[in-house]
Amino acid sequence: MSDSIAPAAVPASASVAGTPPSWWDRSVGYEAYIRSFADGDGDGVGDFIGLRDRLDHLAWLGVDLLWVTPFYPSPMVDFGYDIADYTGVDPLFGTIEDCTAMIDRAHELGIRVIIDIVPNHTSHQHPWFQNAVASVDADKRDWYVWRDPAPDGGPPNNWISHFGGSAWTLDEASGQYYCHLFLPEQPDLNWSNPGVIEAWKDVLRFWLERGVDGFRIDVTQGFVKDADFRDNTELRPLEPGMSRFEQWDSFVHERDILQDETLEIFRGWHELVAEYDAFLIGETYVLDAMALRHFLEPRDGIHTGFWFEPMHMEWSTEAILDILRAPLDAVGSGIGWVMSSHDDPRAPGRFGGGREGAERALALMTMMMALPGTPFLYQGDELGLADGYVPPERFVDPVSFRTGVDSDNRDGCRTPMPWGSGTSLGFSTSEDPWLPMGGRDVADTVEFQRNDPTSHLHRMRALLAARRSMNAALDAQDGTSDTVEWDAPLAGVTLPAGVVGLRRGPFVALLNSTDGALNIEGLTVELDDVHFRSLAEPGIGSKGADDVGPAESFGLQAREAVLLHRP
Ligand code: NOJ
Repeated sequence: MSDSIAPAAVPASASVAGTPPSWWDRSVGYEAYIRSFADGDGDGVGDFIGLRDRLDHLAWLGVDLLWVTPFYPSPMVDFGYDIADYTGVDPLFGTIEDCTAMIDRAHELGIRVIIDIVPNHTSHQHPWFQNAVASVDADKRDWYVWRDPAPDGGPPNNWISHFGGSAWTLDEASGQYYCHLFLPEQPDLNWSNPGVIEAWKDVLRFWLERGVDGFRIDVTQGFVKDADFRDNTELRPLEPGMSRFEQWDSFVHERDILQDETLEIFRGWHELVAEYDAFLIGETYVLDAMALRHFLEPRDGIHTGFWFEPMHMEWSTEAILDILRAPLDAVGSGIGWVMSSHDDPRAPGRFGGGREGAERALALMTMMMALPGTPFLYQGDELGLADGYVPPERFVDPVSFRTGVDSDNRDGCRTPMPWGSGTSLGFSTSEDPWLPMGGRDVADTVEFQRNDPTSHLHRMRALLAARRSMNAALDAQDGTSDTVEWDAPLAGVTLPAGVVGLRRGPFVALLNSTDGALNIEGLTVELDDVHFRSLAEPGIGSKGADDVGPAESFGLQAREAVLLHRP
């Protein structure tokens, strides 16, 4: 394989019904959790200089869309998702010049940049909240969500925080409660107030003028609340020791999230970003394809919504098929495919850990790369990393402190990126980064895996290259690129139990979810038909050449996915 892939050019071609695919439909995204990506100044926390200096890795990998997590001034109670100034850069991460230098370098490399915005809530230290909390008559009082106590003096209704416990905190000075879908230090903005709507348009313009290519929108399901602040329907009583998910799932969230009025806000943003050809992708954390449809179906709001079910799935043939199909059946396109993030345990660990877990994750990613939408890697996915180990005495995530449940802790998926040999595996010159390196060793690093052509890193890179050439072939064929067929993707061939298959235009993707090799009877495959296989180069090694043939039977290794070109 050649060592250099030219920076991805932005495709300009036709697809379904003559509608050109947007650039984001042809991109592969990459989430850089800035605190843990690369530390340029040696203080043990990742920053813009470190990120800029590592962009070559992303270009080499074939990524063409970078998502940077929050970098704004913040008291860091939720590690940056509690923002005190939407148009600044926290000195921990550098300066605004460092930020724009990073964006410029990314653009030189053919990588677009989207930034994380957090409009559902501010930090309690944001000047808007400082103003609002000062008095009931303050200018910005109504920019937040205030309610009088319930008759018993308790919270105004039964809404709970995503991080457990009540979504309301009493402001003793005024005797009113304010709403927070996350921590008390993250008061929710009142999106029914026109001043908030206008202020946010200014924030979006500020960053678009500085060259960003779009936004990852935090808590897209939040924003507007029920006008009458009615209770949610309770499904079961809350009990001590419940995790954040168990608490959240004890209610039907019909009043606190997913309000139709939120769509109107995104309509305004859609128009605003269109002037810049910029991308809106929502953190649509809904775990229900029909709820995802709520955001995407209007087609005049956010362009794409992340589909989070793969972050919570069990590994089984049925689950894989269901999780890939459900959002496409519900909305057809505009899906952000993702299986790991800074909020949930990494896929290889959830899929069993070790080499097997990494192979399963790569196989699932192969299927996602074959589908319409925008696949995203989380930093370290390219290395096949499971969570790093963080001992409880090093926990820093506020969520597990709030619920008291260790499994709610998000530190393991946030440990620093292992780049190479040396201090802190090349992440930082500091020997004591903000989170421990997590027990990684040299074989986990970018440097080591780049020197091993059979590594997970090289397989992932080959997969990204396969997706690019697949897109080019699809774009050359009008009308096929967004249509996916699931039943009988190969005419006349019955897939054995344990294999998930799909067809998209002339491409067929097959995944062997089992832990044993399987033959697909009646399928004859020429070497040239094999566009990508997750466990080996076509035709190379014990898992390649022997499996192409014999005639009338094609072999898939355990936990292997393959992309075939079968017009
Ligand atoms: C989702 C973000 O991904 C998460 O890290 C954060 O804690 C919450 N939103 C609150 O902003």
